[in-house]
Amino acid sequence: MSSILPSVTRVVSGMRATGRLHLGHYHGVLKNWVRLQHEYDCLFFVADWHALTTHYEDSSIIGQSVREMVIDWIAAGLDANSATLFVQSDVPQHAELHLLLSMMTPLSWLERVPTYKDQQAKLRERDLATYGFLGYPLLQTADIVAYRAAFVPVGEDQVAHIEFSREVARRFNFLYGREPGFVERAEEALRKMGRKPAKAYKELRTSYLEQGTVESLDTARALIERQPNMALGDKERLLGYLEGHGRLILTEPQAMLTAQSRMPGLDGQKMSKSYNNTIALREAPDEVARKIKTMPTDPHRKRRTDIGDPALCPVWPFHEIYSPEEVKAWVQEGCRSAGIGCLECKQPVIDAINAELAPIRERARDLEKDGAHIRNILTEGSRRARDLAEETLTDVRRAMGLAWE
Ligand code: TRP
Ligand code: SF4
Repeated sequence: MSSILPSVTRVVSGMRATGRLHLGHYHGVLKNWVRLQHEYDCLFFVADWHALTTHYEDSSIIGQSVREMVIDWIAAGLDANSATLFVQSDVPQHAELHLLLSMMTPLSWLERVPTYKDQQAKLRERDLATYGFLGYPLLQTADIVAYRAAFVPVGEDQVAHIEFSREVARRFNFLYGREPGFVERAEEALRKMGRKPAKAYKELRTSYLEQGTVESLDTARALIERQPNMALGDKERLLGYLEGHGRLILTEPQAMLTAQSRMPGLDGQKMSKSYNNTIALREAPDEVARKIKTMPTDPHRKRRTDIGDPALCPVWPFHEIYSPEEVKAWVQEGCRSAGIGCLECKQPVIDAINAELAPIRERARDLEKDGAHIRNILTEGSRRARDLAEETLTDVRRAMGLAWE
């Protein structure tokens, strides 16, 4: 395990536990995770608490989903020797950090997160006017900053949440990132600097903090760097004081957006369980064939003799993902001239999906039989996650004034 890597290369991401994974998860997220596990110190977890924020009324699927999800992960190529895999609720530090951060998070920040109102409107059949659902992005923040992660691989829809995490981390550092007597020590360092440079520093600092003049910040930094006899600690203090914060306790994470291959569903909409248009990662070969064969095609092509247009057909995006150039050319030609039938056209897609899923299915079958294996992986993973998160929590508790010993 790559725990010796500096935290700058740490990557954290989670997936809500809401059932078995499908091709959309595979192409949109999992393939990317599989690649990242070799390049960074990765922590991937099943977000079972996040699943509870929307599924609290029918939560029985959550527990089952955890195991199934991890089987899918490993079958798809995640390796517990490369990445740390765990379950969110096995690491209570996430919950503690969520609580602590809740004390300093303005309510208006949470109400302003776009997914809050969007999801409430979209999932109208569920009552999402809950405290837990409002706090969803803050729990996600805790998930991330508990590990001082540098990067969070997520889809476009999650960018607002990562931005929110950055704001919370920044506010935390601003409020608590000061050593005891930070301001006094900074002022003391200023006095040692001499009257004239100290006056210049103060004017530049005011100009930056009150008017946001970036040139003043640069000039003041240069001024500090130039001081011949100043101790390094004092330099650091004055540089931090300049920007209005002290020591950095929490790391501001960055979203890591990958060119996402948007996996189309069987009906042309995005593949998603709620649209009932998915192909599961462990789908049986004849079920894959049945689902593709019953897919709708270009609505203008009612009869075999009608010509069609791939641009209007939900099957075409599958060719774009799965077919080599010559097959794509064959589809374009054959569809537009009614030279091929739709079933004929679908066959290469069926074959390609089944070829892709064959090794995944096979690995999953072995994992299903070996329950202890998954349990061991998650036990090991959560142990490492707890150790890492506890390091951060120790600093956070102390910074917030909770270390009473
Ligand atoms: N909210 C994410 C989603 O719906 C899941 C998630 C929970 C997550 N905690 C996270 C993603 C932390 C990245 C990092 O996809
Ligand atoms: Fe769609 Fe292929 Fe039929 Fe054309 S031939 S309508 S691309 S399934």
